[in-house]
Amino acid sequence: MSDRLFIFDTTLRDGEQVPGCQLNTVEKIQIAKQLETLGVDVIEAGFPVSSPGDFNSVVEISKAVTWPTICALTRAVQKDIDVAAEALQFAKHKRIHTGIGTSDSHIKYKFNSTREEVMERAVAAVKYARRFVDDVEFYAEDAGRTDNEYLARVVEAVIKAGATVVNIPDTTGYCLPEEYGAKIKYLIDHVDGIDKAILSTHCHNDLGMATANTISGVLNGARQVEVTINGIGERAGNTSLEEVAMILRCHHDIHIDTNINTCKIYPTSRMVSSLMNMPVQPNKAIVGRNAFAHSSGIHQDGVLKNVQTYEIINPKDVGIDDNAIVLTARSGRAALKHRLNAMGIEMDQEKLDKVYEDFLKLADKKKDITEDDIMVLAGADRNLNHHIKLEYLQVTSGVGVRSVASLGLNISGEHFEAAATGNGPVDAAIKAVKQIIKRQMTLKEFTIQAISKGSDDVGKVHMQVEYDGQIFYGFGANTDIIAASVEAYIDCINKFRK
Ligand code: KIV
Ligand code: ZN
Repeated sequence: MSDRLFIFDTTLRDGEQVPGCQLNTVEKIQIAKQLETLGVDVIEAGFPVSSPGDFNSVVEISKAVTWPTICALTRAVQKDIDVAAEALQFAKHKRIHTGIGTSDSHIKYKFNSTREEVMERAVAAVKYARRFVDDVEFYAEDAGRTDNEYLARVVEAVIKAGATVVNIPDTTGYCLPEEYGAKIKYLIDHVDGIDKAILSTHCHNDLGMATANTISGVLNGARQVEVTINGIGERAGNTSLEEVAMILRCHHDIHIDTNINTCKIYPTSRMVSSLMNMPVQPNKAIVGRNAFAHSSGIHQDGVLKNVQTYEIINPKDVGIDDNAIVLTARSGRAALKHRLNAMGIEMDQEKLDKVYEDFLKLADKKKDITEDDIMVLAGADRNLNHHIKLEYLQVTSGVGVRSVASLGLNISGEHFEAAATGNGPVDAAIKAVKQIIKRQMTLKEFTIQAISKGSDDVGKVHMQVEYDGQIFYGFGANTDIIAASVEAYIDCINKFRK
């Protein structure tokens, strides 16, 4: 008999805390609906007291989603809980996630408090949250570094106070898999009333052990896992949903099932990556571009003889369909719509017509249009409200000469022009932009990625620019990588020049 593991997705809360990955409410609703199709049990939709935007997103996601429980994060503070309860008013199934730091360093340095006082605050928060909802999850922040004996007392007290789920976060990603698994087992063996609540894992990836720790927690009795799509999240990220789902699917011997429809994993991964402007590393397990690419001769030979020699997952099981219809300049609107739907993207006729128009322009420039290209085209209207737009760009560059760029920007209807030289075409173009936008901006990160293979490919550029002590994230995509770089730079500027 299989046990059921609940999947708690925190892409829209812990994942969205990544600097530069912020989403607007419409984008969050799109991801939440995709998570529902994917089959997650709980969607952590935000931290309502943190901003009006987060509050509104929790309200709108609650209205848009039917089956998953919608969860809102709070501190162990009454005001936070009041606001979370209000934000959840339209949710069909609702949960408040409240908690407090329990490690000695949190108690001493963060709260200047004592173990007993923290325990009282934990109990009071759970009791207060239970006045609004039947489903209350408690998190013991930094449980990974909390003394097990004290942690067990806290867990026992919050369950008595009405917590239905208790989250044991390895907030700093410090634990070893054996240590984390032993912590879960310790709680199962030492907490009176543990059968009245579900224990949850929440592992960060600072030492690259998030998934291993999560699985160790599950093997020792945790029955909820907190995960994000593509493993995004604070610092090195959280446990990735796709890794946990596929580990349990590949290892039947563990006898634990989830409700995840694994065929929706890849489209969900691409949607999150594209909307958050967060590239997936090519060698990322399950969803990276190279995850199923066999390049060495020995491996290719083996796979051709029998695919099981080097492949433990059929790519189709995670939604990668190599035989999908190839889209070219001769494909019609219906084929494009079909592919968009398969990728989890719905759009009205007006937007479809616009995307189709852009698709035909791109198909004239490159032979095969990939899913990544389509994602970029589908998200292109995110720039429509930008008040700074690139009007034209001309660059000359070569070997042994300095590059020269001249460009024109349209800023809220006014035209500006500038020219500059640089040690390469991107440097020259960015200097020209800076002549117009006279701000102290520092380019912190700059990555150029070809979407698929050919020299006619679309280049995707991700940038991070620091301005006024804050980081702003920008994205550009174009068959001309200099233009894509300038678009990404202007995207960053548009974010702080609202
Ligand atoms: O990592 C952590 O401890 C958290 C809690 C707020 C649940 O994200
Ligand atoms: Zn976290």
